[in-house]
Amino acid sequence: MDNKPIIVKNSGYVELKRIVDERDGVLSIMEGQHDVPFDIKRVYYINNLENLQSVRGKHAHKELKQVIFCINGSFVLTLDDGEKKQDIHMWRDNVGVILGKELWHTMHSFLSGCVLLVVASDFYKEEDYIRDYEEFLNYVGSTK
Ligand code: TYD
Repeated sequence: MDNKPIIVKNSGYVELKRIVDERDGVLSIMEGQHDVPFDIKRVYYINNLENLQSVRGKHAHKELKQVIFCINGSFVLTLDDGEKKQDIHMWRDNVGVILGKELWHTMHSFLSGCVLLVVASDFYKEEDYIRDYEEFLNYVGSTK
């Protein structure tokens, strides 16, 4: 994997194996605890992204762990741990990025039929979200 190194906290890459045989198509598999570092309790996807200017995410989680994939098209994932910030170009369907706790994340610059797939360590709980950026910086004790 020659991906750009991840410099923010609570993140990293997940690379899924791709199974190719004499038939058409590529099969990729993700198992909780084996391929992603938690038991998977929830899966969601985002499609029908028709506006290139759309911005999604813009929040952090207190405890939730997730892995985000771009299984079609491409987009840019911006990660911010309160100290360091980086952009990751997401375009490989089998390479996901861990969205660990306390990581402000934004998804944008969606191209050509982009489909995002996310697996999460817990059910949806609004109380786990931090949706205000200043509150996030305070929560993580940022020196910014
Ligand atoms: P949100 O997490 O803000 O979306 P994104 O980060 O992709 O832009 O969620 C948007 C809305 O959907 C919000 O009202 C909460 C709701 N939602 C659920 O009910 N269950 C879920 O699993 C998710 C991810 C969102």
